[in-house]
Amino acid sequence: MAKYVIQGGQKLSGRVRISGAKNSALKLLTASLMGNDLSIIRGVPRIKDIFTMAQVLEVLGAQVEFTGHNDLLVNPTFLNNYVAPYELVSRMRASILVMGPLLAKLGIARVAMPGGCNIGSRQIELHLKGLSMMGASIEQGHGYIEARAKGRLKGTVIPLDFPSVGATENLLMAACLAEGETVIENAAREPEVGDLAHFLGKMGAQIEGIGTSTLLIQGVENLHGAEHRVIPDRIEAGTFMIAAATTGGNITLENVVSRFSELVIGKLRDMGVDVLEDGSRLHVSRNEPLEAVDISTLPYPGFPTDLQALMMVLLSLAEGVSIVTENVFDNRFIFVNELNRMGARIRVEGHHAMVYGGATLSGAPVKATDLRAGAALVVAGLVAEGETEVHDIEHIERGYENLDQKLRDLGADIEKVSGESQF
Ligand code: EPZ
Repeated sequence: MAKYVIQGGQKLSGRVRISGAKNSALKLLTASLMGNDLSIIRGVPRIKDIFTMAQVLEVLGAQVEFTGHNDLLVNPTFLNNYVAPYELVSRMRASILVMGPLLAKLGIARVAMPGGCNIGSRQIELHLKGLSMMGASIEQGHGYIEARAKGRLKGTVIPLDFPSVGATENLLMAACLAEGETVIENAAREPEVGDLAHFLGKMGAQIEGIGTSTLLIQGVENLHGAEHRVIPDRIEAGTFMIAAATTGGNITLENVVSRFSELVIGKLRDMGVDVLEDGSRLHVSRNEPLEAVDISTLPYPGFPTDLQALMMVLLSLAEGVSIVTENVFDNRFIFVNELNRMGARIRVEGHHAMVYGGATLSGAPVKATDLRAGAALVVAGLVAEGETEVHDIEHIERGYENLDQKLRDLGADIEKVSGESQF
């Protein structure tokens, strides 16, 4: 297992270009299965999860290839298999998002149960309940979920108990080829859901209410391929904003849609970080001591749960006590122990974490427990005194394109060392 070795103390400075959004690109790939001909998706990050999703599509019979460094061509015309196998689904939960497209296009889908994840139970009952409301019969057994539609799926009103991103996306895709009108109420409003809806619209889908919590879809008979550029990754952007603030640096982010990060920018400003919006660029610097703030993660447009771990690092340095409340996942504080080993002073009580600020972080060997926790430990290593080893960086490389190189280009002392982890 590879690791990052980081020497702390460098202030970040310079420019970094943000990659396309992982949590959009993955769904654009599954949606391209629904077209009757080629789709081209541009600005796709070259990360492990994308390669895994490409493998899932190829197992289903689609052809997937990079035509440019970050441009993916998908040819779904030979789609001939409806089984997404365990060895791929267990590697990446997002594979469950082939269920809607397969059910809509082939009338059947058989997907291995997604593995639990390091950040909680990650159920999929909202996905399955919505699909069964559209007329699919759902059976579970032998580690697989099989959904069958007798004829076409039927449009209906689907009130979601929770604005689940994945459930909204699976049901949105299924509804595009269903018979009649579907209304998804309490739909997720994340920008990545909007990007998927825009791509489906280019494929010929009839969708209204994009960006709102009520999506109205008129089913059509067929969808054709389309060309689309992925929106920038707002979580990667937040990661670099927080890294600059943590090190007391001064950086410029390129390829950013700042309105996707309004609350994050607001919270950083409340802490004393300077954030200057400049078209598709953001200038982020911090010269003042950091102030403590409280954070509550919520579905978009609330504070993103994916930046909770990163904010904990910054809050550990701030003057004062912060309360961080995690409302989206039921086990997303597991990385706190690793951060405390670096000198943070955080106490977890259920869904709340009390962050006692003013810490001086010191380098230590730590382990990435999930994608964003791993990134948070890297950022902690940037500011910690001495050397930090972040192990199990495969978690990180699933979702960040060239993270170590981008940080080196900003002046960080970080090296990737392959080979056996000491854990
Ligand atoms: C997406 O996960 C993202 N992943 C996550 O990013 C992100 O944290 C999450 O949305 C919330 O923004 C991708 O887009 C690939 P949910 P998803 O369905 O779709 C519960 C990252 O780091 N729930 O909104 O799985 C679920 O257990 C990843 O890039 C049910 O209970 O998120 C969780 O507690 C991590 N039943 C909460 O809702 C369901 O049927 C949020 O899940 C569905 C969800």
